[in-house]
Amino acid sequence: MRGGRQLEGELPIVGAKNSALKLLAATLLAPGRHRLHSVPTITDVGIMCRLLEAMGATTTVDGSSVSIDVPEQVDPQAPYDLVEQMRASIVVLGPLLARFGRARVAMPGGDDFGHRPIDLHLAGLQALGVEFEHSHGYIDARADLLLGARVVLEYPSVGATENLLMASVLAKGTTTIENAAREPEIADLATVLNRMGARITGVGSSTLTIDGVEELAPTEHTVVPDRIQAATYLSALAVAGGELTLLGARHDHMDMVIAKLTAMGMRVSNDSAGLWAAVPRRLRAVDVATLPYPGVATDYKPFLVAALSLADGVSIVTENVFQSGRWRYVGELVRMGADIRVEGHHAVVRGVEQLSGAPVRAHDIRAGAALVCAALGAEGETEVADAEHVDRGYEDLVAALAAVGADVERR
Ligand code: UD1
Repeated sequence: MRGGRQLEGELPIVGAKNSALKLLAATLLAPGRHRLHSVPTITDVGIMCRLLEAMGATTTVDGSSVSIDVPEQVDPQAPYDLVEQMRASIVVLGPLLARFGRARVAMPGGDDFGHRPIDLHLAGLQALGVEFEHSHGYIDARADLLLGARVVLEYPSVGATENLLMASVLAKGTTTIENAAREPEIADLATVLNRMGARITGVGSSTLTIDGVEELAPTEHTVVPDRIQAATYLSALAVAGGELTLLGARHDHMDMVIAKLTAMGMRVSNDSAGLWAAVPRRLRAVDVATLPYPGVATDYKPFLVAALSLADGVSIVTENVFQSGRWRYVGELVRMGADIRVEGHHAVVRGVEQLSGAPVRAHDIRAGAALVCAALGAEGETEVADAEHVDRGYEDLVAALAAVGADVERR
């Protein structure tokens, strides 16, 4: 990539990775043919399809639509080689227990974000009557009868909320999930479950009430637009300057990050086609703290840090969602001339006038996207190694940025 060019044009926003993965898992709840549209063509979706196929389902991809044929009986196992590649595989636990009363799922290991426990998933499922045994790196889960219960989550975990939601739709009686996560992707999942015949109320709120039903039926659905992809493009625009229209982006799912970008000086408005944004001049520094939805998502943080590293002034960025990690890309930004100091959960970002292109390495999806954003504001050439991490969450970031004027190529 060579920096220095403004971005101009329109970019379509695809379906959200973090919704599509859970919607694919939810198909396990009902035999028959399910249809999902606006499914992003990304590595993680491929892994989830392979996982469903390993259990006996058939997946057929037709452009951005995926048909999933789920048989009457599936092999309720998630093997280590797939769970290891994608932690989100753990969300098959809830649907498998709901439909078959048993599941054998590999324990996810650590990753670059540090240790990410699943204790909240397990405690919630236990409240519904699930018993667990851990051996040889696997969780063997069993429930003769799932019984509705009141579950109060200690923390609004996205994955735990989703697993509990999918377990409780076929449980006997009523389940309430309090302090549930409220991310738009969870509302998308609940909407689909209701369309399949589930009885969930409180969708979009922090209290979900689920009246269990006997059975569910397949349905057809278009995945909610990816707010993280949209925020990535806005951050790229913050760095490069120019004007973009993000077709299909949902302003109402991005209130806090848009508030931050507006405070920095970006102009953002709701266009009938999606979101319109422009950067009239050098942006100002702002403080950012990540929080569960509707707060600023932790996934946005790497590319916001990249944008802030070129803003006028000093920003304090605070991580409140993950215990550790999620700062590894900072060392790479510093190699590009950024002035950032990390202290525990905080980073002090002193904006510089310009970054300088350098060879850097992507450690994960969003870190890779942040380095790509930073390269747009760097003098000279930047080469991002291990770019395949970016493919886990973005269909073709290089082609998208090139289409709106960036000087970027994939080697
Ligand atoms: C999902 C998203 C991820 C996003 C995260 C937070 C997917 C595929 N991934 O991940 O992109 O960054 O939400 O918005 O949708 N925790 C526990 N115990 C648990 C579960 C979670 O302590 O049982 C902690 C985690 O370690 C972390 C925090 O809770 O510190 C948030 O995790 P969670 O909301 O569960 O995130 P994920 O569902 O893993």
